[in-house]
Amino acid sequence: MSPTSRWSGRVALVTGASSGIGAAVATELAELGMHVVLAARRPERLTELAARLGAGATAAPVDLRDAEAVARLFERIRADHGGVDVLVNSAGLGRETPLIGGSAAAWREMLELNVLALCVCTSEAVSDMRRRGDDGHVIHLGSMAGHRVPQGSGMYSATKYAVRSLTEGLRQELRELQSNIRVSCISPGYVATEFHQGYFGSVERAQAAYSQFPVLQPTDIAKSVRYVLEAPPHMQVHDLLLRPTRQPS
Ligand SMILES: NC(=O)c1ccc[n+]([C@@H]2O[C@H](COP(=O)([O-])OP(=O)(O)OC[C@H]3O[C@@H](n4cnc5c(N)ncnc54)[C@H](OP(=O)(O)O)[C@@H]3O)[C@@H](O)[C@H]2O)c1
Repeated sequence: MSPTSRWSGRVALVTGASSGIGAAVATELAELGMHVVLAARRPERLTELAARLGAGATAAPVDLRDAEAVARLFERIRADHGGVDVLVNSAGLGRETPLIGGSAAAWREMLELNVLALCVCTSEAVSDMRRRGDDGHVIHLGSMAGHRVPQGSGMYSATKYAVRSLTEGLRQELRELQSNIRVSCISPGYVATEFHQGYFGSVERAQAAYSQFPVLQPTDIAKSVRYVLEAPPHMQVHDLLLRPTRQPS
């Protein structure tokens, strides 16, 4: 734990904390001395991580596509901890499905989680931050897929281009309010998590993707989140593009 961090003792909500990047970010923020609320659907994963992180972490099982459940989650955080100071929107998914003849259910799933749930959580969290010193931080997990369109990933990329728009839109609204709340996006290339297993629907294809070259690790992204948070208050990191060194595009 870093006793000097200005975030020590404050409250972070990390979505997607049951796996991959979200779990690593939650661990990093707990090490900063933050109280971390862990949100995702699988309760056993969250409980296990909360136990590992100790008294400063709480498991909060929720399906983020259910806006009423998200509202209840924020009410509970307000009752138990006073509200959220830092929101990390890491929950996200991709499905390999084309735009011509693809699955509308898969398109909807990606849009509901990657775009709408992110907006609902952000709006709730910003209202807490406004009450709690007006100096919080919202960090979205974007993707390199929000900067160019990998073959066959038209809809997933659309959701991540949307995250870039939502980053800039929120920045403009906060500036209009003369708020000190900051918003940042982090856009990784390949990171070794469970993501590509879900994207391809195949463990073998995910492993093949991760063995092309040394890919990023969830802790690499967690360290970047820490860098973004620890930047001085007058400095807002807008978007960090993080590629594995040997990733072609
Ligand atoms: N891995 C990569 O190569 C990569 C690259 C660029 C960007 N990203 C982005 O990074 C973020 C994190 O992905 P990851 O790589 O850590 O993938 P991951 O290991 O698959 O984690 C995804 C997380 O989202 C949660 N989640 C999924 N559906 C949910 C729902 N309906 N409600 C609540 N939580 C839900 C999952 O938990 P439950 O299943 O328990 O709900 C899990 O904790 C995503 O936004 C992804 O788009 C990943």
